[in-house]
Amino acid sequence: SPKFQIVVAGTGAVGKSAITLQFIAKQFVQKYEPTIEDVYKKMITINNQHVILDILDTAGQDEYSSLRSHYYAKGDGFLLVCSYDNFSSIEEILEFKETILQAKDVEDSSQVPILLVVNKCDLSNKDRVFSRKEVDDLARLYDLPVIETSAKNGTNVDNAFHKLTTQILKQ
Ligand code: GTP
Ligand code: MG
Repeated sequence: SPKFQIVVAGTGAVGKSAITLQFIAKQFVQKYEPTIEDVYKKMITINNQHVILDILDTAGQDEYSSLRSHYYAKGDGFLLVCSYDNFSSIEEILEFKETILQAKDVEDSSQVPILLVVNKCDLSNKDRVFSRKEVDDLARLYDLPVIETSAKNGTNVDNAFHKLTTQILKQ
């Protein structure tokens, strides 16, 4: 079976680990524990084909930012995560995208599978600091496909990994 390295990227506390654990174990962890680096493995089936995903859950906190290029260089595809409760997380998307392109040594995002993931879509409008419309505008501007997820209730978590893997298979 083909084996792909998935990197879960994005700033701190947006839910990268929660998305990963919801995907791997169907569990939601309420408590916030900053990640340094965690790796997981899962087999999925796409169009009757088995695919093995090696998932690298990266550190979002800035004190570990020097590790990013090293991790990103190994990635075959990227879930680039921001969250509805964190305005700087969406502001930082461009910077993360640029770091990925540099690490992969490519010119633009058509050459590397990146899926923009907007997490915490379970939050009500009053708890959101930006709208879906703003996300769609930004995704168009940055030329990235986008999906909304909730690691809390599981919405679109499997879909995000499937969609990214489909992007990788088409590459
Ligand atoms: P770093 O490892 O520091 O980069 O953070 P992270 O991006 O891995 O965030 P983590 O998964 O640890 O989640 C941060 C906090 O947000 C935790 O308290 C989670 O319970 C919460 N959280 C994560 N996903 C969701 C979600 O979909 N909805 C809600 N309401 N809370 C979430
Ligand atoms: Mg984490």
